[in-house]
Order: sequence, then structure tokens, then C-alpha cells
Amino acid sequence: ETFDAGSLRTPIVAVLGHVDHGKTTLLDRIRGSAVQEGEAGAITQHIGATAVPLSTISEMAGALVDPTDFDLPGLLFIDTPGHHSFSTLRSRGGALADIAVLVVDVNDGFQPQTEEAINILKRTGTPFVVAANKVDTTPGWNPQNGQPIQQSLEQQSERATSRLNENLYELIGDLSDEGFSADFYWRVQDFQSNIGVVPLSAMTGEGIPDLLTVLMGLSQRYMKEEMSVDVAGPGVGTVLEVKDEQGFGATLDVVLYDGVVREGDTVVVGGRDEPIVTEVRALLQPRPNAEIRTEKRFERVEEVRAAAGVKIAAPDLDDAMSGAPVRVVRGDDVDAVTEEVRKEL
Ligand code: GTP
Ligand code: NA
Ligand code: MG
Repeated sequence: ETFDAGSLRTPIVAVLGHVDHGKTTLLDRIRGSAVQEGEAGAITQHIGATAVPLSTISEMAGALVDPTDFDLPGLLFIDTPGHHSFSTLRSRGGALADIAVLVVDVNDGFQPQTEEAINILKRTGTPFVVAANKVDTTPGWNPQNGQPIQQSLEQQSERATSRLNENLYELIGDLSDEGFSADFYWRVQDFQSNIGVVPLSAMTGEGIPDLLTVLMGLSQRYMKEEMSVDVAGPGVGTVLEVKDEQGFGATLDVVLYDGVVREGDTVVVGGRDEPIVTEVRALLQPRPNAEIRTEKRFERVEEVRAAAGVKIAAPDLDDAMSGAPVRVVRGDDVDAVTEEVRKEL
């Protein structure tokens, strides 16, 4: 399985929502991983990044997605923490996003960090869909592993269906109180002016084919023009974390959101006291479907194209800061790029 970035920029999909509403579990289900199980206190404490190739998406979406309809290489998912103390990380995740998934536990409904996430999406003008998660916890639910949601709904009792619908209408009402016209996604024609609600379960996978279909449609229809600009320009990214790696010293886990970074490139990174100017010694890319936070077997590559998660090894990174900008210098304008990074700090 390969992740061929082709000539279009991979859309960045931020996953936001209240603590424990199921963001990481949803991504685990999509990428076939168990990151959530390894988290201390079952709490996400960092921003994550995972490149999910089109092949994985079309496999999971089954009949709902025909891969030949899409020329996007896949989606880069950004996991964010829902715990109230990580608001900086939520804003950072939201700022990176082209589109977003707002995960809401269908029983819990809107909670403080749901509202906070909505405010971030409003502020950044990011189009989003709502994943109405944990439908399997509806009393009397008859789970339909991995099925499209409408097929699953056909297998539910009237009682279970009406319990679920009550919760879903409450959610649609809460979205409307926030100024969004929302509806079940299958009734939405224009996903830019209306919010599609996708009932699903991260646990059983039902409804996930629907979510992936909506995300691909949103990306393809509204993002394509933006996605095709400047794919080969100098790389620009945000530092997620500064981590020590055996044999490399301090390295940067970065979300590259524009352009290209190559081995040997001069880069400028935001540092504690001043911007750091250094040279890329190695680029380490997580495998497709691997979470950069937990990946152990990075692949060494010569270049990386946006959007992607990448570990950058370079000298003098000890004072680099998470959240800081990273910019590739092409040509001889080191001072101009350094000034730009300084302004962004
Ligand atoms: P933070 O990152 O800490 O904000 O949490 P999160 O939103 O990533 O939620 P997480 O994936 O950690 O899930 C929280 C709990 O809900 C875990 O125990 C999951 O197993 C459970 N859970 C998530 N999705 C579902 C679902 O669809 N159905 C059921 N029954 N449980 C779920
Ligand atoms: Na959690
Ligand atoms: Mg999480």
C-alpha cells in the first residue's frame, strides 16, 4: 500500500470534540489501530497526525465510494485532545484544518468542549460534518458491524430508532442554536451552507462508510482548487512536538501543510529565544495509516509533500518549541524567512 501524494495537496481533516466522545477510537477504527488503548488515563494529550490513503478509505467505505471518482491522494487526519486543559492544542489543530469532523457522543450531546470546538471552526471558517458517535449504546441496538448507517437503521427496532432519533434531533437543535442549519447528512444537498450529521459508531464501525464518503465529497468538491496550488513550493508546517530520537538527538514532529521539504533543505524553526536556522539531516515519515504520535518504524525519505506528518531530524533543535512554525528556505532569502518565522512566534 502506498501513499502517493500525486500533484494535489492532501486535505487536512481535524477531528475535534469533547473529552471521551470518541475521536481517537474513530481514527483507530479507520486506520485499523489501537492508539486509544495505549493512552495514559484514556486521555489524548497531544495532537496526532495520520495519513490515510485513498485505498484504505475506499475499502472502508465499500460501495459508497468509487475510488475512480476521486483524484485526491487520501486524507491527513489530525487527532486533538478533548480534555478542557488542552485548548491551545485544539486551536492549533483547528488552524491546520481544511475541513473538520466534530465528534459528539449522541447520548451526551453538546458539552463545553463541543461548544469550544464549534467556536474554533466558526473563527477559522472551516467546513465541518458532525459525527454523531456511539449509536451502538442506544438501548436495544442491534449492531451491524461496519455497515452503512441506513442499512443498519433498517435492522433496528422501532423503539431503538425512535430513541436514537430523539438524540439526533436534539443535536440538530443544538447546532441550530449555534447558527447552523443542520440535518441528517443524506438530506443535505450543499455541505457548505448546511451541516451534515452522520450517525455512527466508532466501536462497531457502522456509519463510518458514510462519514468517509461525506469527507471525500467535501474535499473533492470544495477543496480541489485550493488543493492544487503551490504543491511544489517551499514547505511550511507547524511543530507538533520536539522529541529525542536515538541517533538523531532532538527532532521535530511536524504537520507539513504546504509545499515540499527535502533532505538537505535549510529550514527556519521557531525557538525559545529566537528562530533557529538549520539544515534537514533526515526526513522520517510514518507509514500510511500510522499515527505519528506512536509510530516506531518511520521510513526514511528524501522528500515529503503537503499535507503530511513528518519527523524532521536536524542539528540544533533542542530549543525548538511545539506550536512553532517551520519554513523551508529555497534560494537565498534566509533573513526574510527568519523574519517571517519571528513574526509568527
Ligand atoms: P479525548 O481524546 O481524551 O478527548 O477522548 P476521545 O474523544 O479521543 O475518546 P476516546 O476515543 O478516548 O473514547 C472514549 C471512550 O469511549 C473509550 O472508552 C472508547 O472505547 C469509548 N467509545 C468511543 N467510541 C465509542 C462508540 O462508538 N461506542 C461505544 N460503545 N463506545 C465508544
Ligand atoms: Na479519551
Ligand atoms: Mg482522543
